[in-house]
Amino acid sequence: MTVAPGEPEILITGEAIRRRVEELGRQISEEYDRAEDLLLVGVLRGSFIFLADLARALTIRGSVDFLAVSSYESSAAPAGPVRLVADLRTDIAGKHVLVVEDIVDTGDTLAYLLRLLALRGPASLKCCALLSKPACRKTDVRIDYLGFEIPDVWVVGYGLDDKERHRFLPYIGVRSTD
Ligand code: IMP
Ligand code: MG
Repeated sequence: MTVAPGEPEILITGEAIRRRVEELGRQISEEYDRAEDLLLVGVLRGSFIFLADLARALTIRGSVDFLAVSSYESSAAPAGPVRLVADLRTDIAGKHVLVVEDIVDTGDTLAYLLRLLALRGPASLKCCALLSKPACRKTDVRIDYLGFEIPDVWVVGYGLDDKERHRFLPYIGVRSTD
């Protein structure tokens, strides 16, 4: 794959993502084989491409819903406590819920979401994240299914942005310093 001048450097190619998402899809399908009611909960907006690919890699039936949380005002610093800005439309009581996140950085967002959703009485609650930056963790949180561990760099593409830029890149790149 060639990268145009000025575009972010490739960290994970589209092909490597595709292969890993296939593996995750296979693993999740096996483990939820008996759960007729798997609900994928996408965390907007960063997870939209990952979720779309993951859903197509599953061989089990399921449904999908979305929520949105307040995100960083800028890539430099967190905007403060996590806040739910759009809630699910689905009642998750008694359902098998799999939260689908783009990236776990400090862990605050995922820890908050898992706490919030657990209160609603799902049959099970797990999470799948495409990326994790373990070096940045502040809040300990378990990631049940993980695509890739990455170093402490700001990444873009495949749904992830830098102030709304670069979301549509078909690979994960490192933000260029411009
Ligand atoms: P956390 O609460 O610090 O774990 O941050 C999670 C959220 O911050 C993610 O869901 C992303 O929306 C955003 N984020 C963290 N690191 C990156 C990055 O490297 N690129 C793009 N978004 C990021
Ligand atoms: Mg996110």
